[in-house]
Amino acid sequence: MSTIDSAVLERLRAAAQEATKRAYAPYSRFYVGAALLFDDGSLVTGCNVENVSYGLTSCAERNALFRAISERGAGPKLVAVAVANAAGAPCPPCGACRQVMSEFVTADAVVTFPGERGWETVPFSQIFPSSFHFVPEAR
Ligand code: THU
Repeated sequence: MSTIDSAVLERLRAAAQEATKRAYAPYSRFYVGAALLFDDGSLVTGCNVENVSYGLTSCAERNALFRAISERGAGPKLVAVAVANAAGAPCPPCGACRQVMSEFVTADAVVTFPGERGWETVPFSQIFPSSFHFVPEAR
C-alpha cells in the first residue's frame, strides 16, 4: 500500500518518538512528537507546545510543518508523516493538523501513527478525503 520503504517509516517513527522528549505539555502531560519526510529527502521534527491559555496550544505536526517552511520555504512536499506520543496511546493527527498538512502533501503521502492495535500506516487521502480547495481569482 505505502510507497515508502518500511525501514524509512521506522526511522521516521523513531524521530517522532525522540521529538516527544522536547514537548512542552505541562497541562495535558500528553507529550507528542511528529516527524515529516519531504520529497527532497529531508526530515523535520516538531513537538507540541502548550500554553496556560489552553487554546493557544500548538500541535506537534503543525509545529514541525511551520518550522520546515520557515527554514527553507514551501517548495518541498510532504511524502510521509509520523506521529508519536510518550504514552504510546492511539494518536492519529487531529483535524486541524490534517487540514494544514493537506496543502503541502503529495498525492500518495502516508501517515503513520499509534493506532488501537500498534502502528497504523494509511494514505493521507484516506484520513482526509474531500479536502477543501479554493483557487483565488486573479485580481
Ligand atoms: N496534540 C498534538 O500535538 N497533535 C495532535 O494531532 C493532537 C493533539 C497535542 C495538543 C495538546 O498539547 C495535547 O496533544 C493534548 O491534546
